[in-house]
Amino acid sequence: MVTPTICHKTTKLNNGASIPLIALGTYKAAPDECYDAVIHALEFGYRHIDTARIYRNEVSVGRAVNDFLKSHPDVKRSDLFITTKICPCDYRNPEFAIQCSLERLQLDYVDMYLMHHSLAMVSGEGLMPADENGNRKYIPFEEFSYIDAFKLVVKLVEKGYTKAVGVCNFNLPKIKRLVEDKNLAMVPAINQCEIHPYLPESELVEYCQANGVVIEAYSPLGSTGAPVLKEPVLIELAKKYEVSPACIVISWSVARNIVVLPKSVTSTRIDENIKVIEMSTDDIKKINDICKKTSKRYLNPNWGIDVYGSDAEFKPIN
Ligand code: A2P
Repeated sequence: MVTPTICHKTTKLNNGASIPLIALGTYKAAPDECYDAVIHALEFGYRHIDTARIYRNEVSVGRAVNDFLKSHPDVKRSDLFITTKICPCDYRNPEFAIQCSLERLQLDYVDMYLMHHSLAMVSGEGLMPADENGNRKYIPFEEFSYIDAFKLVVKLVEKGYTKAVGVCNFNLPKIKRLVEDKNLAMVPAINQCEIHPYLPESELVEYCQANGVVIEAYSPLGSTGAPVLKEPVLIELAKKYEVSPACIVISWSVARNIVVLPKSVTSTRIDENIKVIEMSTDDIKKINDICKKTSKRYLNPNWGIDVYGSDAEFKPIN
């Protein structure tokens, strides 16, 4: 039997800062439960919290962080790593967007500000503007691209609003474009993507890690209901090590040096999700091989175009 232990591991970002490898994810955490979850996580030892404008829980996250810091004078703000994300409808005005996020969070700065998607959405129609078919209303790449947006977002670092910037949901061609664009003032520090044993994104992970972009895994358990944990190979390994399947998945991500963001509003699960074990190379390979049999993406918003496909920008689905 192996006893899982709290993971205090960090990895280095391209701005020199350290980022804890395990964070509390808050996607789909409703405001009141989110406050309790964040307080509980910080009390238990989490030092990294991930939120977003679109999650509509920045106020709860900020209140929990500030209440925790007030009641724990031994922990400094600089001991915590707080990430939030700009909604694509705000890409043309990131300075105002981050000022509003900091106001909701009641923080002077965030540690990481991520562009939530690779497409800008129209502004002035709410957080999730959609057309008559239910597809997100995006701004054509030719008119205002993620490169244009990133050029504005990087300026927030020197203005002191955020320590670093990065992106989410960038597939290989898109992250390559950003990394290789010589006109950009900096390379994104993070690329946060859906990653789990059914979607290990090995090529993307390899490219990012070789080019100084830290990879973060959202929905590591498959999002709502944690469907990935029903995978027989994970259950078999959980039995072998006498831990939960969640521990196997999270330990696998840590072993890949991927920042992993399990979401939970359940105290016992929050406690469980920050504890990891070391597995043998053979067992890690077994998990790597799961996708050869079953490959699945759980979160695929209606963009009306193939945003996650392997082709470069703006290839229509049909
Ligand atoms: P809850 O928040 O009610 O505890 P993901 O991190 O992939 O987005 O998965 C989140 C989902 O997985 C939520 O439904 C969450 O439920 C559930 N979950 C989180 N941690 C665990 C765990 N250790 N075991 C089982 N389910 C979990």
